[in-house]
Amino acid sequence: MNNRKAVARISATSRFLPDQIMTNADLERMVDTSDAWIRERTGIRERRIAPPEMGAVQMGERAANAALEKAGLSPSDVDILIVTTATPDRLLPSTACEVQSAIGASRCFAYDLQAACTGFLYALSCAEGHIAARQAETVLVVATEKMSVITNWEDRASCVLFGDGAGAVVVQPSLNGEGVLSSHHSSNGDLASLLQRPAGGGRLPLNEERLRNQEHMLQMSGPEIFKAAVKSMAKAGSKVMKDAGMCADDVDIMVPHQANIRIIESTARYARIPMDRVFVNLQHYGNISSATIPVGLDEAIEEGRIGPGSVVLMTAFGAGLTWGATIMRW
Ligand SMILES: CC(C)(COP(=O)(O)OP(=O)(O)OC[C@H]1O[C@@H](n2cnc3c(N)ncnc32)[C@H](O)[C@@H]1OP(=O)(O)O)[C@@H](O)C(=O)NCCC(=O)NCCS
Repeated sequence: MNNRKAVARISATSRFLPDQIMTNADLERMVDTSDAWIRERTGIRERRIAPPEMGAVQMGERAANAALEKAGLSPSDVDILIVTTATPDRLLPSTACEVQSAIGASRCFAYDLQAACTGFLYALSCAEGHIAARQAETVLVVATEKMSVITNWEDRASCVLFGDGAGAVVVQPSLNGEGVLSSHHSSNGDLASLLQRPAGGGRLPLNEERLRNQEHMLQMSGPEIFKAAVKSMAKAGSKVMKDAGMCADDVDIMVPHQANIRIIESTARYARIPMDRVFVNLQHYGNISSATIPVGLDEAIEEGRIGPGSVVLMTAFGAGLTWGATIMRW
C-alpha cells in the first residue's frame, strides 16, 4: 500500500440526463447506418438529447443543485466552482460563472476547464490541489455537455456516438484516509487535429462557406482515436495503480470514460480488470464527454457498486489529445 495520505474525497455525486431519448432506430432514419452496426461497433443503443431551450448551464445547474443537496450543503458553502464543458452556452463569459449565478453560489470563485472528455479527471485534480493548498474546503465540480449541438448529424461515423447530460461532485477534505490516492494526467497537442471543431474560433471565424461545410462541428478520425484511447487509458490506469501501491485485484470497480464498449473492454483487458468489475452505462447515454465519469459514479453508488471503502479506478481520454487516470478510496 502507498504511504500517500489522501487529502481530498468526493462527498457527494449527482447526475442530470434530459428526458428525450434518441434511439439507434431514430438514427437509421437520419443517416446510412443500422442499429446492428452501432450496437456491434460501439455498444450504444440510445442517447439523451436536451431540448433546444436547455443548454450546458441549465443541465449543469440541475446536477450542481442535486449534488449540494446530497452533501447537505447550501450554495453559499461552495468555495470554488469548476465547470468542465466542450459545449458552452456562450463563448464569453465562462459557463462556470453562469452556473454560479444559476445556483446562487455567490461566495465562490468559478472557472471553466476545457480538456474535452478528460475534463472531469483534470478538474478533480484541480479540486484536490485547491484543498491541499487550503484555498478551499468545498469545491463543486460540474461536468455538463450538450454534445448534440456540436454533432454533425450528416456524419454517420461520429453522430451515432454522442449524447447530452451532466454530472456533478462535491470535493472536500479527506476525513479518515478516504479520497484520491493517485492521479496521472497527460496531453499531446501534436494530435489535436484527430478530434476537433476547426472553425468558429479565432483562427477560422465563421462565414457562410464554413457554416455550409459544417466546419464548426465535430470532426473525428475514429480509428486513430480508438487506438490512442486504449493505449493511453490503459497506461494511465496501470500507472496510478502502481503509484498507489496497488494492483488490479485491489480495484473494486473501474469507472472508465464511456466512448465505445470495445475501447472499454480493451482498456480493462490491458489493465487486467475483469469486465464484471467495470462500470458500463454507454448503452443508455452514449458518450457525454466530460460528464460520463461523474454520471457513472453516481449510478454505480445508487446500484450499490461503490460504497465506503471501495477502491475506484477512473480513466478518461479525449480531444487535445488529453488523457488521465485517478484512483481513489471511497
Ligand atoms: C468511430 C468508430 C465507432 C468506427 O468504428 P470502426 O470499427 O473503427 O469503423 P471504421 O471507421 O474502420 O469503419 C468501418 C466501416 O464502417 C463504416 N461506418 C462508419 N460509421 C458507420 C455507421 N454509423 N454505420 C454504418 N457504417 C459505418 C465506415 O464507413 C467503414 O466502411 P468501409 O469499410 O466501407 O469504408 C470507432 O473507430 C471509434 O469508436 N473510435 C473512437 C471514437 C471516439 O471514441 N471518439 C471520442 C473520443 S473521447
